[in-house]
Amino acid sequence: MQKITILKGNIVFTAVAEKFEVYADSFIVSVDGYIKGIFKTLPETYQNEQVIDHGNRLIIPGFVDLHLHAAQFPQCGVGMTHQLLQWLEDYTFDLEREYQNPEFAEKVYTAFVDKLVAYGTLRSCMFASSSTQGTEILFEILKKKGLGALVGKVNMDTNAPDFIIESTAGSLKGTEYLINKYKDEPLVRPVITPRFAPTSTSQLLKGLGDLAIKYGLPVQSHVSENPDEIAWVKALFNDAKNYSDVYHQNQLFGQTPTVMAHAIHLEKEEIELALKNNVFLIHCPDSNINVRSGIMPIRQYLNMGLKIGLGSDIAGGHKIGMNEAVVRAIQLSKLYSLEHPDDKPISISEGVYLGTKGGGEFFGKTGSFENGYALDALVIEDDEFTSERYSLEDRLERFIYIGDDRNIIARYVEGNAI
Ligand code: GUN
Ligand code: FE
Repeated sequence: MQKITILKGNIVFTAVAEKFEVYADSFIVSVDGYIKGIFKTLPETYQNEQVIDHGNRLIIPGFVDLHLHAAQFPQCGVGMTHQLLQWLEDYTFDLEREYQNPEFAEKVYTAFVDKLVAYGTLRSCMFASSSTQGTEILFEILKKKGLGALVGKVNMDTNAPDFIIESTAGSLKGTEYLINKYKDEPLVRPVITPRFAPTSTSQLLKGLGDLAIKYGLPVQSHVSENPDEIAWVKALFNDAKNYSDVYHQNQLFGQTPTVMAHAIHLEKEEIELALKNNVFLIHCPDSNINVRSGIMPIRQYLNMGLKIGLGSDIAGGHKIGMNEAVVRAIQLSKLYSLEHPDDKPISISEGVYLGTKGGGEFFGKTGSFENGYALDALVIEDDEFTSERYSLEDRLERFIYIGDDRNIIARYVEGNAI
């Protein structure tokens, strides 16, 4: 039997980045999780179906976070005076080690996934830790909650403390175990996850590229985040043309669908390669600021036609709500434009687009309410004194700027309430 979901309310989304699509007091219909249309009056065929009436509330697409570290959730807001490499050394590796303990993993990942749900991040692409067992626990919790996610066991076999790295063979074996267990899941699937070039030997990168090709799996990593990191990569991999080429030589840069976090200081050739290979570059504005890596030149990248998503980068970023990432991307683009007058700031519709359909493209048809897209939706309730005064676009902007989990009163993934 078909599963039909019908929501009624004020529907707002971005089919294109430049403007909002607005359907006041309308019905949105999905069949088996996928959208059939938005209607002012309900068509005959659906008139006997149940309607979930959300009244004067907003109905918007769920948020998409294309870069975050589930294992770093307890570290949000800690160590924020450090830069990247020192921050990893002093705080992060120690914490990630804890996930070798299943009780710790269960407790923290449960709290983490509850927060993702609360803040309306319905699809995400995340790093776990190097623990295979810990990562398996994260898969199970995400599955149980009904979120969409790509989850990576973090691969590291060098240049990090002994307590967190694995042998090359051990790292690949754990990865392949998780691939076989989860590759055919409908919503929560594996993603190949070298942490970044410096903590990988060439053999590990090659093995991971082979797995990506063998199973047709997506890839995620970090690229060109911090000047010290880039210098380190150049010293370690002196036969590569640049940082991105280290991944590309190993079939980890767009040979299968790929997301690369940060990409702040890319060279011209790297940008060209990302464009050619449809690599998604993930802007993590809070992280850019917190660990003082630099500012992604997002307007230039958008003008070039690069695929851009947004990431909270928990815990380089300190806030899990993707509305915060949208706000910070806009704010940071405004600061950037002061020094680069040709780079127009990101508008509110562009920000929402990046946090919904822009990133959602990595999962297929998600992040928009056009026909054929998954009905991944949030229902937003705001104050009466706001809803009476402002347009639907203004109400959405206000939620993005000052809203939080308390304003999100319902969540649907592929038409199912979660
Ligand atoms: N590069 C390598 N590891 C990390 C990490 O955990 N966070 C961030 N922001 N960058 C990284
Ligand atoms: Fe990161």
